[in-house]
Amino acid sequence: PPHTPQYRPAHHFTPAQAWMNDPNGLLHHNGTWHLFFQYHPHGMTWGPMHWGHATSQDLMSWQEQAIALAPDPLGMIFSGSAVIDVHNTSGLGAPGQAPWVAIFTHHDGEAEKAGRIDREHQSLAYSLDEGRTWQKYAGNPVLPNPGLKDLRDPKVFWHAGTARWVMSLAAGDHIAFYASPNLKDWTQLSEFGHALGAHGGVWECPDLMPLMLEGKQHWVLLVSLNPGGPNGGSATQYFVGDFDGQRFTPHDTHTRWLDHGPDNYAGVTWHNTAPRTLLIGWMSNWVYAKDLPTSPWRSAMTLPRELSLQRVGEQLHLSARPAQEVVQRLSSLPTTVASLSTDASVPGDALRQADGRFAIELTAPSLQDFTLTLSNDAGDALHIGYDAASRQYWIDRTQAGLSDFHTDFAARHTAPRISTAPEAQVSLFFDRSTVELFADQGLTSMTSLHFPSQPWSKCQIQAAEAMREGRFELRSFE
Ligand code: FRU
Repeated sequence: PPHTPQYRPAHHFTPAQAWMNDPNGLLHHNGTWHLFFQYHPHGMTWGPMHWGHATSQDLMSWQEQAIALAPDPLGMIFSGSAVIDVHNTSGLGAPGQAPWVAIFTHHDGEAEKAGRIDREHQSLAYSLDEGRTWQKYAGNPVLPNPGLKDLRDPKVFWHAGTARWVMSLAAGDHIAFYASPNLKDWTQLSEFGHALGAHGGVWECPDLMPLMLEGKQHWVLLVSLNPGGPNGGSATQYFVGDFDGQRFTPHDTHTRWLDHGPDNYAGVTWHNTAPRTLLIGWMSNWVYAKDLPTSPWRSAMTLPRELSLQRVGEQLHLSARPAQEVVQRLSSLPTTVASLSTDASVPGDALRQADGRFAIELTAPSLQDFTLTLSNDAGDALHIGYDAASRQYWIDRTQAGLSDFHTDFAARHTAPRISTAPEAQVSLFFDRSTVELFADQGLTSMTSLHFPSQPWSKCQIQAAEAMREGRFELRSFE
């Protein structure tokens, strides 16, 4: 197929070519952000999985590096995490050199073909040159499969309270927690989720993390689910609760979603960023991921997001906001400001120059109905808005360009408003074929793809009378 540079996001990671899915092994060291990812270097669809590798100094521009991990006789390299083993608990280090240890799933395709259930095992690889090259551990797998069809995506962190490593592992319809003194010997601690949360599909890519609120530590467990998301297909739910080093206990039985858009899956957080917690997700959906009309690559990552807890009434909710690195970069760029006092529109030239890469910030003392429409001369239109009657943000991509590649792509998606604050605060980030909506300090977010046949050249906002004291600002990325 012809190449589609017009759809390649400029400020999100995409591999130069070939298929990508989940982020893996996220690790921060000496000012460098490492992103590993599920990668099939020889195809435009999912295949024998490798770990690709990219690095960034600013979380916005990424340099692709050599492939980190390739399939071996134990199987393909599925998702997992990476840690810096500062005290060399694993013994895999060298004098004066703390090993970086990747913990991943070996998926044995041959076992699967032979109808065997025990096809997913947990294994290690280590690097002594800051992630450039990796050796597989000779004793793999370190956690053999006990007889479960789905058992994958190990996410490991150092649990200070019990001074040992803790692993969250997706086990089909629940999460299993394990502990280890040395990353090699693992003991099961507990299970969570059999009868809680959304179960429309298989549980994948867990991540357990501490987050502070009002001087108290809480624990958040992210669990990706495919299918069964609130807008169809894959999505990431989360639970807020406590973790005592053994067991995760949720505060309540509500199902909450990290992102209500259709295109944010398998998100996990970076190792070694305390006191901040930063997440990146795969900006796609298993429903149509393999059909997306891009070439010669397929899939992008989301913008990196900072996670925090916020209280709304009695409930604690996760807030996801673009990382401050992204916000800072944007605030230094030229801005067009318009008021909402008349039906507002942005001069076409400003948008034409932006070439699909811009941000919009909408603020008003009162949040009421509004509709923002981006359009082009080809007759495509993307509509984004808020509906006060149903208290929902929404994104309608039914007319936003190409959609005939999959019947489920053209759709209108909604997200509940969590915040009870009167004012409107909505940020939108556009990057050629992507939009990320963050409302109410990140309490509601939506990530959504679209493929206009020409770049957006017109932007209009219609807002309810009560919002007319508000304004919107448009900033073009350079
Ligand atoms: C999630 C997932 C993981 C698995 C990987 C395989 O998108 O299905 O559970 O490890 O993708 O590529």
